[in-house]
Amino acid sequence: MDPIRVVQLSDLHFSTKPGGYMLRDTAETFGAVADQVRDEAPDLVVVTGDIANEGKTDEYELAGDALAALGLPVHCLAGNHDFVDPLHAVLPRPDVAVQRSLRLGNWVFLFGDSNRDGGDHHPETGWTDHEDRVDIARGGLTRQETTWLRRQLDLGEAEHAMLWLHHPPGGKGMFEQPGFDDEIRELFGAATPIRAISAGHEHAGVSRDVAGVPSHVCPSTGVSIDFDALLLMPPGYRRFTFHDDGRIDTEIVWLDDDRWNDRWKLPEWVAEYFAGQMTDDEMKARVAEGR
Ligand SMILES: [Fe+2]
Ligand SMILES: [Fe+2]
Repeated sequence: MDPIRVVQLSDLHFSTKPGGYMLRDTAETFGAVADQVRDEAPDLVVVTGDIANEGKTDEYELAGDALAALGLPVHCLAGNHDFVDPLHAVLPRPDVAVQRSLRLGNWVFLFGDSNRDGGDHHPETGWTDHEDRVDIARGGLTRQETTWLRRQLDLGEAEHAMLWLHHPPGGKGMFEQPGFDDEIRELFGAATPIRAISAGHEHAGVSRDVAGVPSHVCPSTGVSIDFDALLLMPPGYRRFTFHDDGRIDTEIVWLDDDRWNDRWKLPEWVAEYFAGQMTDDEMKARVAEGR
C-alpha cells in the first residue's frame, strides 16, 4: 500500500471581529496556508481544534467554507475555543467531516476529545459545553472518552493507530499536565497500537515522548510561538507520512511569506496566556493596550 500523506492544521481561530485573533488576521493567514496545502494535495487534512475563536455560528460558516475550498478530505475535532453544538451544526460539508474514527489501510485514525473540563455529559441530552470553556487551558479525558478510546483500540481492527487530540500530553514547565499525562499513559497499556499522538493548542511546533510514544504539537495557522526564545513565528502546519509498517515521518512547515516573517520578540505575558494563567478577555485587553 502507498504511504498515507496527511497535513495537520491546528488553531485556526477564525473570527468575524476586526483584527482577527491576537496579532493576526487569521482568515488571511489560513488562506496562505491553504494555497500551499492545496498544491501539496495530501490524502487527508486533519484539523485539531480551536477552529473558531469564540465558538460562534458565523465563525464556523467562515471556517467551513475555507476548509471546503481546500478541495481535499478534511477531518475536524473540537478545541477549547470550539462549542460542540454550533461546530457540529454548521461546519460539516461534503468534504469536511467531524466523524470520530477513520480506517485507512492498516491504520486507524482516532479523533479524541481532550476537553474534559469543557462541558458535561448528560444521560439523555448528550454533551453540554461550559460557557467558560474557552478559558480552560488544561486538557483531559472524561470517563466516557476513555471508554470510547479503549473500545476503539480493543476492536483491534487496524494494526496501527494514530491519536489526534486538541490538547497535547507530555508538556513540561508551564505546559505540564500531570493528570492528563497519567490518563494517556493508562490508555496505552502494554501493547498499544498507538504509534503517535499529535495535537495543537500550544500554538507551537514541538515533539516529545509520552511513555515511549511520540507526542507532537502542530503550530497554529495564525499565531504560533517559539516559547524558548519567545518569538512570534510565521503561520505553520505539520506534514505526516504514515507507512504500512507503522513508521511515521513528520515535519513542521513554517510559511515562507514576507507578510509574516518578522519573528518579533514577544512580551512575557504571552507565555502566561498560553499556559492558561490569563483569561481570553484579559489577553484582549493587553493586546488593545499594545503591551
Ligand atoms: Fe488555540
Ligand atoms: Fe486551545
